[in-house]
Amino acid sequence: MDNERVILSLKDIPKAWYNIMPDLPEQLPPSLNPATGKPLMPQDLAPIFPLSLIEQEMSAERWIDIPDEVIDVYKIYRPTPLRRAVRLEKALNTNCRIYYKDESASPAGSHKLNTAIAQAYYNKKEGVKRISTETGAGQWGSALSFACNILGLKCTVYMVKASFYQKPYRKSLMRVWGAEVFPSPTDRTNSGRAVLKGNPETPGSLGIAISEAVEDAATHDDTKYSLGSVLNHVLTHQSVIGLETKKQLEIIGEKPDTLIACVGGGSNFAGFAFPFVPDKLKGKQVRIIAVEPTACPSLTKGEYLYDFGDTEKLTPLMKMYTLGHSFIPAGIHAGGLRYHGVAPQVSLLVRKKIVESKAFSQNPVFEAAILWARTEGFLPAPETSHAIRCAIDEAKKNDKKVIVFNYSGHGHFDLSAYDAYLDGKLEDYEHPEEKIKEALKKIPEIGNA
Ligand SMILES: Cc1ncc(COP(=O)(O)O)c(C=O)c1O
Repeated sequence: MDNERVILSLKDIPKAWYNIMPDLPEQLPPSLNPATGKPLMPQDLAPIFPLSLIEQEMSAERWIDIPDEVIDVYKIYRPTPLRRAVRLEKALNTNCRIYYKDESASPAGSHKLNTAIAQAYYNKKEGVKRISTETGAGQWGSALSFACNILGLKCTVYMVKASFYQKPYRKSLMRVWGAEVFPSPTDRTNSGRAVLKGNPETPGSLGIAISEAVEDAATHDDTKYSLGSVLNHVLTHQSVIGLETKKQLEIIGEKPDTLIACVGGGSNFAGFAFPFVPDKLKGKQVRIIAVEPTACPSLTKGEYLYDFGDTEKLTPLMKMYTLGHSFIPAGIHAGGLRYHGVAPQVSLLVRKKIVESKAFSQNPVFEAAILWARTEGFLPAPETSHAIRCAIDEAKKNDKKVIVFNYSGHGHFDLSAYDAYLDGKLEDYEHPEEKIKEALKKIPEIGNA
């Protein structure tokens, strides 16, 4: 250990996940059953999730023990390093100190494995044989493929069509780990067929792929569905990131002034930042910033309303910042950030102004990623590069702050996006206000009256 890199030992892997539910500044608005308009009951979720995960989804316990079998698999890559970006600091000539929690160190290359392993474990324990899921950038799909492979389950992945063709090697990785992968929308499900009928050339979206994966699970007895973000239990599993980060900062005697992470559905942000929220609520001065793309500005331009989590309206209604479930974002390269909503727990904290939000467009994000790669060496995922952009802008203020951000994943499968940037072919995209208004008109009345 020195202050350029803080490495914990295997015994420092957290023994319990942190669930923010009892520490939220007010009660989380319950998710609603769209058929009845009433708060969701555990049995409503039983066709698609195993009972232990439903229990975690609704749990108000602050700490949830991590099973030994899950810790055993975590040992492949956890604890992850906390590193100091000294060469970037030098290039920026800043008096701020920049640290990053390196979640790219997992076999699948991102934080997504933290919940994939847990979800595969609980499914297996309850006799499930196959898990269906969606993936945007391919990071979540590859994490779940890896976890299912290690724990002996089959895995079916509906991959957003735009990413399927932009990132063929993510698909190959999933297949290496034994999963079957389809470009979504497919003609395998009613949801996919409905979308294709209206728009055969659609690039797809996470919302559509979720509809397909949920339908697959609901129509097969041996299959359950798994979501890589948004839900409470997913955010809880990700808390290992922030719990380790806290310990690592304590070891080197650093107190964070600014915490930053990118937001798609909200899981890496929550996992990284939530363990610090109780300190902030007790008065500790720390800014917590959630970063998203201008092409998918759920937190900065969306509205805080009840909405569906998917396009075909198969999921419960969640109170969250949303651009409307019918929203189809532009095909930006940060595929994992192209989601119309943000996790209800993260949304509530933004609503209560405990968390700030910022949006950046593609070119400044890739400019930051290139500066990062040329100073720190590692190649970041486009999603992660949103957090890097924000960290650089904060460090340029030269105000002696300690900035810590979550390095959610590597960009080894995103090289075509890097080529497009280096060739000057990337377009900045600002999602138009009229389109947001149009999509918000389609939001259901339930819960929003
Ligand atoms: C590297 C990386 N970071 C961040 C995200 C965003 O997801 P979430 O907001 O759930 O962390 C993704 C999603 O695929 C990702 O692949």
